[in-house]
Amino acid sequence: MKTIYLRTEIPGPQSRALMQRREAAVPRGPYHATPVFAARSAGAVIEDVDGNRYLDFAGGIGCLNSGHRPPEVDSAIRAQLEKYLHLCFSVTPYEGYVAVAEKLNALAPGKFPKKTLLVNSGAEALENAVKIARAYTKRPAVIVFNDAFHGRTMMTLALTSKTHPYKAGFDPFPGDVYRVPYAYCYRCSYGLSYPSCKISCAKAIEDAFKRLVAPESVAAVIAEPVLGEGGFVVPPQEFYPIIHEICRKHGILFVADEVQSGIARTGKYFAIEHYGVEPDLITSAKSLGGGLPLAAVTGRAEIMDAAGVGGLGGTFGGNPLSCASALAALDVIEKGGLLARSAQLGGKFRERAKSWQSSFPIVGDVRGLGGMCAIELVKDPGSREPHAEATKKIAQYCYEHGLITITAGTYGNVMRILVPLVVTDEQFDEGLDVLEAALHHVSAAAPQKQLVTSNI
Ligand SMILES: Cc1ncc(COP(=O)(O)O)c(C=O)c1O
Repeated sequence: MKTIYLRTEIPGPQSRALMQRREAAVPRGPYHATPVFAARSAGAVIEDVDGNRYLDFAGGIGCLNSGHRPPEVDSAIRAQLEKYLHLCFSVTPYEGYVAVAEKLNALAPGKFPKKTLLVNSGAEALENAVKIARAYTKRPAVIVFNDAFHGRTMMTLALTSKTHPYKAGFDPFPGDVYRVPYAYCYRCSYGLSYPSCKISCAKAIEDAFKRLVAPESVAAVIAEPVLGEGGFVVPPQEFYPIIHEICRKHGILFVADEVQSGIARTGKYFAIEHYGVEPDLITSAKSLGGGLPLAAVTGRAEIMDAAGVGGLGGTFGGNPLSCASALAALDVIEKGGLLARSAQLGGKFRERAKSWQSSFPIVGDVRGLGGMCAIELVKDPGSREPHAEATKKIAQYCYEHGLITITAGTYGNVMRILVPLVVTDEQFDEGLDVLEAALHHVSAAAPQKQLVTSNI
């Protein structure tokens, strides 16, 4: 039986009415990928206020790797509700916070002693990673990459790469942030090809030490092991070991931003595990909370302890409900075999998407690591000119036909898959059928003028 069920035009009348209220009451700044309002959700399915049923390939931007409201998470939240809601870990500590920290310390790569700080959002985790790195190294500077996305607060906007719509008009940003090319092989900054490039981009950091900032001034190199918002770009195997070695040589901390790539998304708890690298600090968020807001910085104990008492924290960080939900969600991942499922879904996607690449010239690149996978759309496979208009149209066709998706990429030309890993094979195939129909639809349509794109 099909999951997708559409009983009204999309958006339906209730969604349209709510959108009018939204436009009057909420600023236009927070983007929405679809014009439909949710009524309920479970597993990999969302029902809207008009009774239309969608497959969810966006997972609330990667926050639902363990699914919408898995029963175990639901029960854990209800049980916590019976005990207490907010105490503030800085006033009256509670076990859930410590238990989440213990769990992340055990899951993060590296056999050395670790500690974990809990906060509320991905951006807050990155802010704290920078604070901790500066406190430990007593150095000011941070090196980040092209196409990086690390958040929307002032420091994380300094770390983020994409100008419109994220940075433009919000400057000035905090200083001492330096940017180097990422290993985006499909659009190599040096016009080279892998493997004959000998991973020149990884060595760009050494060059930055001569041209941009002295190594003894650098506290941390921060990288998304797989680019999230930047387009689901997966660097070659050698990239992170080279960067890690350069960091070690100069006493610089290596920070893996796993906010989007972590918590089983790529078939491992952390994407950096695929590269055999043990970061000094790891930031996680999104799927950590199982649907509730929770983020973390996990790292070497001596580094995490560099900030003084009272120097880290916040009123709501590690909220008891979020901690209960996180522990249950991590359990669902472990007991439900979702690491293996992520790898399986990724394989299934890439096989199907490779066939699209042969049939549709607009599919320029197919890539991914485990269940973190994407296609990059181009006007012509030879020129690789980004096709943002087609990407927007594909996303629109998808929601109008019952599949919720989100885009990505500096050029807004990437369709990314962040499906809850509990999706069934039948549901996944049904979603891929809609995506394929969208490619047919857009390939047949005439091109339109350039748009400024916002992915999230
Ligand atoms: C890699 C990465 N870092 C940081 C963030 C910021 O997270 P948040 O939106 O929870 O502040 C995001 C959000 O998409 C992200 O993908």
